This record gives sequence, C-alpha cells and structure tokens, in this order.
Amino acid sequence: MADTTKTATLTIDGTDYELPVHQPTAGPDVVDIRKLYGQAGVFTYDPGFTSTASCDSTITYIDGDAGILTHRGYPIDQLAGKSHFLEVCFLLLYGYLPKAEELEDFETTVTRHTMIHEQMHNFFRGFRRDAHPMATMVGVVGAMSAFYHDSTDISDERQREIASFRLIAKMPTIAAMAYKYSIGQPFVYPRNDLDYAANFLHMCFSVPAEEYHVDPILARAMDRIFTLHADHEQNASTSTVRLASSSGANPFACVAAGIACLWGPAHGGANQACLEMLKEIGTPDQIPEYIARAKDKNDPFRLMGFGHRVYKNFDPRAKVMKQSADEVLDLLGVEDNPTLQVAKDLEKAALEDPYFTEKKLFPNVDFYSGIILEAMGFPTAMFTPIFALSRTVGWVSQWKEQLSDPQMKIGRPRQLYQGENLRDYVDIENR
Ligand code: ACO
Repeated sequence: MADTTKTATLTIDGTDYELPVHQPTAGPDVVDIRKLYGQAGVFTYDPGFTSTASCDSTITYIDGDAGILTHRGYPIDQLAGKSHFLEVCFLLLYGYLPKAEELEDFETTVTRHTMIHEQMHNFFRGFRRDAHPMATMVGVVGAMSAFYHDSTDISDERQREIASFRLIAKMPTIAAMAYKYSIGQPFVYPRNDLDYAANFLHMCFSVPAEEYHVDPILARAMDRIFTLHADHEQNASTSTVRLASSSGANPFACVAAGIACLWGPAHGGANQACLEMLKEIGTPDQIPEYIARAKDKNDPFRLMGFGHRVYKNFDPRAKVMKQSADEVLDLLGVEDNPTLQVAKDLEKAALEDPYFTEKKLFPNVDFYSGIILEAMGFPTAMFTPIFALSRTVGWVSQWKEQLSDPQMKIGRPRQLYQGENLRDYVDIENR
C-alpha cells in the first residue's frame, strides 16, 4: 500500500470523518474510503468508476493529460522502438528487463507452449463458420479450463505460472485458428523456428499447398502492434479479469471474461468500427458531413478511434501507430491508400474543430491500427482478436499481481438504489 501521511476531512451532517490519503509513486493522491461505510454509514457514488482506484498496482502507469504510458516505468515509445513483444511480456510479468539468458529461456518456454490440445480442434468445429472470431475466442479460451486442469489451481504458484505461459503462448494459435475456420481453410500448426509475431502471420496466412514467406518488416510491424496493446492498467477488460478472478475463478475463465468485455465497440471493438467508418466515409469530400454528425447531439454517431477515457491530450500509442501505418503501406507499395488518406484528412479536420479540441478528443491507438492490419491482409473481424491476443499478457500480469496481493477481496460494488420501497405481494386476482 502506498505511503499515507496526509488525511482528508469529509463532513456529513456536521460530523467530520478523517480519511487517509495515499500518495502513489506517480499520479494523483488517493483518498481511502474503505472504512467510510463502517464509520459514517454512507457509500460513495462513481458510475463507470471514473474516480475510483480499485487496486494497488506496480505494472502500468498512464498520465492521460501528459499523454504518458509506461510499463514498469519504461515509456511505451521506447519499448515499441527498442524492445520487442516477448521482452515486454517478461517485463510486465516479472517487473524488470530480462538479462539475455533469462529472455532466451522465457522465449523458449513460450514457444514450446504454442500448440493447443489436439482435441480442441474438434471443439472449434462445433462453431458455425460465419461466427465472429471473437465469439469463437470467448468460447475456446473459456474451454481451456476443460483441457488444462493441471494449471487451474490458483493457490499453487507454479500452476499460476504455467497458466500464464499457456495463455500467452496459445492465444495466437487460437486467434489464427478462429480465422482459418471462418474462411474454411485448414488449421496451420505453429512453427518453433519463427518468432512470436512471424509465427502468428504464418498461422494466419500460410496454406499447406504452397510455401509462405513471412516478410520480416511485416513481422516487425505485427510485433509493434502487439507491444502497443500489451497492457493499459485498469481498463474495462482488465478490470473484468480482476473482478472475475476476485471470486477465485480459474485463469482461463477470467481471461475469457476479459475477451468478452474487450469485444465491445467502445473498447477493443473500436478498431473494427473505425476502419468500417473510414470506408463508409470513402472520400475526403464526405468528411464535413461525418464531422457534423459526430457533433450532433441528436445523432448517436461518434467518430470511432477518437476520444479516450484517460488520454485527454494525445494517445502516445497513436503516434507510433501512425508512423507504422506509413511504413507498412510503403513496404507493401500502397502509395495512394484512400482509407489512409481519409484517416489523415479526418484527423486534421477534427483537430482543427473546437468541438473536438475543447472536449479533448484525439485519435486513439485504434485510429490507425485497422489500416495497418487491413494492408497486411487481415479482415476487419480479426482486428479485435489481434487486440485480445496482444492484451492477454496484460490481463495475465494483472491477474498474477492481484492473486499475490494480501489485500485481495472479492469485488463487490455497491449501488444507489432508486427502486420501490418495501411493499406487500399482491395476489394475481387483485392486480
Ligand atoms: N465522437 C464524438 N463525440 C465524442 C466522442 C467521439 N468519438 N467521444 C466522446 N465524445 C463526446 C461525448 O458525446 C461527450 O460530449 P458531451 O460532454 O457534450 O456529452 C464528451 O465527448 C465526453 O464523452 P464521454 O463518452 O463522456 O467520454 P468517456 O471518457 O466516457 O468515453 C470513449 C471515452 C468511450 C472512448 C469515447 O470517447 C468513445 O466512444 N470513442 C469512440 C470509440 C473508441 O474509439 N473507443 C476506443 C477507445 S481506446 C481502446 O479501447 C483501446
């Protein structure tokens, strides 16, 4: 628990209550209200938990006003530029940058866990071919607890570690299988001679009938997308994983819950929704009409890929993603990509419009990621599964941290009840 040297005074009906105030290593002070109900008989009200710290954490820090995102203290732009996904996974899980030998061991372990139980192939075949890959992933990841019982005892540290390796290693295989199944192609087994990102591209795009060469520049761009999505502190899906885990649920069930939450268009589903919106806009001359719709209070339309619950200045991941979009399209020889042009013009138009600047609405990580993924050959339905596989390490790291926290309790929010008061049941003939 963070240092407590200050207190806050809350006055209710003339009575003062002293509340401890914790000072974090970075970020705003946190008023501790845990004893408030016991002392004053009141709850606090915070729909959407916009002002509530739900846990202590040492993993990720975001300063939304300054556009800062760090993992274990290291800024995301340095990690995206100098590190790679599996090293970031190690950092998130263990808290420090690995030495060469530790990294090699970790990479070997993850690589050796990439295959899934052969019987799971049959499980996949039970889904309709036209199912969204996220629907398939929620089911298959939840079903992992039926295939890997030997790593579901959360009180055993070694089992927790094995479950973490399994989830990180198998998620690309599961995402690729969901894709292959949806297009009617045979599943492709992982290859241990390829790195994590290259192996994922191989499992998605190779077919038994011919050789598939993974372009190292595309593999690097893929790896960077994984890195940029690896963790984002207590976002909706991570909080879902923590809440599910607080009851003692097994790790596969908790991560399946996280995937279900991530699917929504206000969260991980935004990258698919954003690309669909850019295509619907189609040409730069349509942009003013869509900006007008986004500003119209009577129109539910929002600019997808714009705005963020925490970043109110810029999203540091969006900067790296924009640069990656240019690099990938350049490599693929897509000089005049109309969607990229619409995205750039839309960003410029919105950033010149007081509606967006006054509300501090800026492009988020999803604004450019869809363009890169589409250029690589992924259909829009695969965008959110790719986000899910990238975020798995974040979910797992936060889950492990929570389980080793002595303060862990079952999550149980309160409510502001606005319903009927106590009344007597009325027999059906008297209603
Ligand atoms: N387009 C138009 N107006 C917007 C947008 C947008 N994308 N986002 C927010 N606003 C407006 C709201 O209408 C609201 O206006 P008001 O104050 O006049 O009522 C104001 O900005 C604040 O919006 P909230 O929804 O209260 O902000 P919140 O922080 O709760 O929402 C969210 C953040 C959900 C991300 C929102 O900006 C949004 O829906 N964006 C589009 C979806 C998206 O891109 N999601 C991806 C998030 S990043 C991620 O998950 C990786």
